[in-house]
Amino acid sequence: MLLEIENLDVSFRNDEGEVTDAAHDVSLSLDRGEVLGIVGESGSGKSSVAMSVARLLPSPPAFWPNGRIMFDGVDVLKMPLPELRAIRGKRIGVVFQDPMGSLSPLHRIGDQLAETVRLHEDVSKAAAHERAVEWLGRVGIPDPAARARAYPHELSGGMQQRVMIAMALMLEPDLLIADEPTTALDVTIQAQVLRLMRDLWRGNSAVLLITHDLGVVSQMATKLAVMKNGHVIETSNDPAAFFAAPSHPYTQALVREARRMELSVNPA
Ligand SMILES: Nc1ncnc2c1ncn2[C@@H]1O[C@H](COP(=O)(O)OP(=O)(O)OP(=O)(O)O)[C@@H](O)[C@H]1O
Ligand SMILES: [Mg+2]
Repeated sequence: MLLEIENLDVSFRNDEGEVTDAAHDVSLSLDRGEVLGIVGESGSGKSSVAMSVARLLPSPPAFWPNGRIMFDGVDVLKMPLPELRAIRGKRIGVVFQDPMGSLSPLHRIGDQLAETVRLHEDVSKAAAHERAVEWLGRVGIPDPAARARAYPHELSGGMQQRVMIAMALMLEPDLLIADEPTTALDVTIQAQVLRLMRDLWRGNSAVLLITHDLGVVSQMATKLAVMKNGHVIETSNDPAAFFAAPSHPYTQALVREARRMELSVNPA
């Protein structure tokens, strides 16, 4: 198993010492070739769990009272920082909802992508730049050689998101964590970006996909976890069938709400 989250608790302690429990006793597993979708209402703990896997939650305020996160047999929570930095990006790629959180406003996108390559691989500047341009093309950015010279703010939100996906995928990580990767995009661009992620994700890597959108999960995910109030309340190995006939009352409510939203956007 590539990723095994075992009995994980995620908590936050603020300056006054008050503790918020974001996730409790979460156990999930994910292997190569699988896409695990995590769904649940806002505040249910999805990001807290996903960001813990890449250890991207600042600690403090985050801490992990219990549990382990075994990535390829090693507990990420016990990993020394230099080792973590080495696997982040290289073996674990991350795509967030807000691309500007990962892109530096000060550097041209081609340079940022090339730097990411050179951080993890011993290649020349020219070779890294060539790879950057190649990936900008692969994620559907027109005229990639010219666009490589653009700064992030010169691109639309959809294009910025493509750049971030290129950055996350270009090192061919074993695990891709995508937290609401398309929520900020308009509907037609969402579909393009999702298709792109599905096409580009190598069949032997693993994807942890967090989204509010049940339609996206039933299309993309090979397995599913539903979170509520920090707990995993249901799991399924057949998301499409699961949403067609939800058993848990909470999941039934989620599905009803999703249908209602869909109808309001797209009246039948
Ligand atoms: N840095 C933080 N400090 C304190 N509490 C936090 C912090 N980040 C998250 N929380 C709390 O942890 C709980 C879970 O939040 P989390 O962001 O993991 O939920 P989520 O399911 O990703 O929600 P959303 O769908 O809105 O992104 C919430 O109660 C939230 O307020
Ligand atoms: Mg979140």
